Amino acid sequence: MQIISGRDIAQEIRAELKKKVEQVSTYGVTPGLATVLVGEDPASQLYVGMKNRAAREMGINSRQITLPEDTPESELLGVVAGLNADPEVHGILVQLPLPEHITEGMVIEAIDPLKDVDGFHPINVGRMATDTGIYFAPCTPAGVVEMLLRSGHDPEGKHIVVVGRSNLVGRPLASLLLRRQRGGNGTVTVCHSRTENLSSITRTADILVAAIGKAEMITGDMVKPGAVVIDVGTNQVKDSTLEKGYRNCGDVLFDEVKEVAGAISPVPGGVGPMTITMLLSNTVKSARLTVAMVESDSD
Ligand code: GUN
Repeated sequence: MQIISGRDIAQEIRAELKKKVEQVSTYGVTPGLATVLVGEDPASQLYVGMKNRAAREMGINSRQITLPEDTPESELLGVVAGLNADPEVHGILVQLPLPEHITEGMVIEAIDPLKDVDGFHPINVGRMATDTGIYFAPCTPAGVVEMLLRSGHDPEGKHIVVVGRSNLVGRPLASLLLRRQRGGNGTVTVCHSRTENLSSITRTADILVAAIGKAEMITGDMVKPGAVVIDVGTNQVKDSTLEKGYRNCGDVLFDEVKEVAGAISPVPGGVGPMTITMLLSNTVKSARLTVAMVESDSD
């Protein structure tokens, strides 16, 4: 049984990216990332902090704009417009979720698609779905594809069952896996909360991706012996034996599934580090685009 370490693969990619940062710097360009955090949600603060730190470690200029919870939507749109116009900013990330009085779609659509390193703008979503033109793929699904390729599990020709249909993970992952290019050519089934006979479908998967958001929902009996299992879940469950009172776990019941699977990604140390790495990758790609160093979108 193989443990697919997102941590190790992320390190490998970050070393490659560092070289690209040095290369683009010979054109006088330092890749720049701007993160925008509205409010004081502790999880969002943690994530944004991790993204900024990872960017700096790579030689990417990173700036964080922190706005109060009650920031009017118009003000946030003004901040985005300023970042769109700033030539030193190649990537803009507005951390989600946003406070309720702000319409997320308005903000996402206000970001210049060429700086939308989250890959959430409808132009990027549409180009990815049709696999045409230049686009940024969203970080978590792009990270899953990289993990599969670099751990020796090319999805080409395989039956991949994605459990979860979110705009953040399930749907874009299905798009990526269907592309006629490296990391694609899969046969994809997307399951969700209304799927009947879920386990009879998951058991047909060569590659099973759990992106449901339900702690330890995928059990051993739902997995075909020898299958590759990628766990996108990040859940916290109560655990009074621990000082902090909870433990982090994925959507997969790891100890049970690892006895059945041929390969499995852990939580933590699986998809999480890959998500941040793909954000850095998109930011570097955006900077390279400004000096026309990207010939195709596979770069
Ligand atoms: N909130 C949770 N995941 C993400 C992400 O990938 N990007 C942004 N912008 N917000 C998030």
